Amino acid sequence: MKWSVLLLQAGLSQAALRFGCSSVSIQRLDPLVEPGNIPSSHVHQIVGGNAFNATMTGDIGEKGSCTTCAYSEDFSNYWTAAMYFKHKNGSYHRVPIFPNAQLGYEGQNASDIKGGMTVYYTQESFDSNGAQHITAFPPGFRMTVGNPGVTSLNGTRPGLRYTCLQTILTRGSETPDLPSRPCPAGIMAIHHFPACWDGKNVDSPDHQSHMFSTTKGGFRVADPCPASHPIRTPQVAYETLWNTTAFADMWRPEDNDDDDDDGNNGSQPFVWSYNDAKGYGTHADYVFGWKGDSLQRAMNDSCMFHGCGSPGMQGVLKTQTVAEMNACAVKSTVDEEVEGWLDELPGYPME
Ligand SMILES: *[C@@H]1O[C@H](CO)[C@@H](O)[C@H](O)[C@H]1NC(C)=O
Ligand SMILES: *[C@@H]1O[C@H](CO)[C@@H](O)[C@H](O)[C@H]1NC(C)=O
Ligand SMILES: *[C@@H]1O[C@H](CO)[C@@H](O)[C@H](O)[C@H]1NC(C)=O
Ligand SMILES: *[C@@H]1O[C@H](CO)[C@@H](O)[C@H](O)[C@H]1NC(C)=O
Ligand SMILES: *[C@@H]1O[C@H](CO)[C@@H](O)[C@H](O)[C@H]1NC(C)=O
Ligand SMILES: *[C@@H]1O[C@H](CO)[C@@H](O)[C@H](O)[C@H]1NC(C)=O
Ligand SMILES: *[C@@H]1O[C@H](CO)[C@@H](O)[C@H](O)[C@H]1NC(C)=O
Repeated sequence: MKWSVLLLQAGLSQAALRFGCSSVSIQRLDPLVEPGNIPSSHVHQIVGGNAFNATMTGDIGEKGSCTTCAYSEDFSNYWTAAMYFKHKNGSYHRVPIFPNAQLGYEGQNASDIKGGMTVYYTQESFDSNGAQHITAFPPGFRMTVGNPGVTSLNGTRPGLRYTCLQTILTRGSETPDLPSRPCPAGIMAIHHFPACWDGKNVDSPDHQSHMFSTTKGGFRVADPCPASHPIRTPQVAYETLWNTTAFADMWRPEDNDDDDDDGNNGSQPFVWSYNDAKGYGTHADYVFGWKGDSLQRAMNDSCMFHGCGSPGMQGVLKTQTVAEMNACAVKSTVDEEVEGWLDELPGYPME
């Protein structure tokens, strides 16, 4: 196996990070949009550093003592809403997450990663770093993408998509709404963040306007950054693999025909934790927390994916094992049940 990685490093001049982070917490907190609120409005699934809490300020890379990410210098937090299955009897159950099978490496089995997400920091596209200098985010940086208030197709944005998984390795065939038919292996939720920065503000009142998106999604080459947001940052993207198979026998599309004219004869039973069954309101949050200049060091390198370091194999970035990733966790601050069969989505109807 080792020779193939050496060839990869020698043969390519691209730089891109793709790595797994196991789940660090699943609870109703949102230090970015609702700082200090215990609980926040809806349930999130969070990965990354264990400094995650209701309030987070300053340089997150210098806080906390462990991270669930394969790169052990990355104490950032990454999160999305949690997905629930709505049974026709009215009860809800959280959908489990399975890890990306492509993230393992020599003796480190990707199947052992506990839930979590795949995180990307790419430069020009999936397989090229282009010729531009990529500027890493500064300490304190944060942003969101998408908006839970979006309820129509018109409000959706490139790069916020779903893939109906025929197998665990299905990619492409992206839709802006949750798949209306059963997906044999589950549903992949994809979030591409904006990658053009105003160069000044680490945050903004709406957590979005300090950034500008020229992404086309799918790791395609983005349009140039505008003069208002001239600094090209890494293209951050998340993939979350929701394992819907345990619920396959509990619903049929024809059970719930909603009689609208959208060509979908039934309503699918998966909802985001903010009660969105269409999926147009999909959104994600990012709080930068790489230690020191580690992210810039990686962006300056010519490594790619496993070549930058993988669980158990050091590269330009320091790594940790899957067991070490899984051992890091944040105890819930919010005292409520978010697992098992629930009568309502936590927080709904609004308290
Ligand atoms: C999170 O914040 C709460 C309330 O401010 C505090 O009691 C708790 O110790 C904090 N948890 C961590 C892991 O820092
Ligand atoms: C709905 O079905 C699930 C799965 O069989 C069951 O555990 C749950 O108690 C049911 N809820 C109600 C309200 O009957
Ligand atoms: C990884 O673990 C899974 C589940 O335990 C197992 O089926 C698979 O064979 C393992 N893969 C490798 C490469 O060891
Ligand atoms: C779509 O959204 C744009 C901008 O938000 C708005 O100007 C336009 O009227 C909308 N179109 C439709 C068909 O709703
Ligand atoms: C998905 O869930 C099913 C049923 O709960 C389980 O048997 C299967 O191993 C899970 N798939 C993955 C890829 O983890
Ligand atoms: C919905 O029903 C119509 C009429 O029965 C049928 O032509 C169409 O293919 C169905 N659409 C889906 C997505 O099943
Ligand atoms: C990254 O590259 C830039 C431009 O060549 C250089 O100024 C900077 O010092 C480098 N940073 C690191 C951490 O390697």
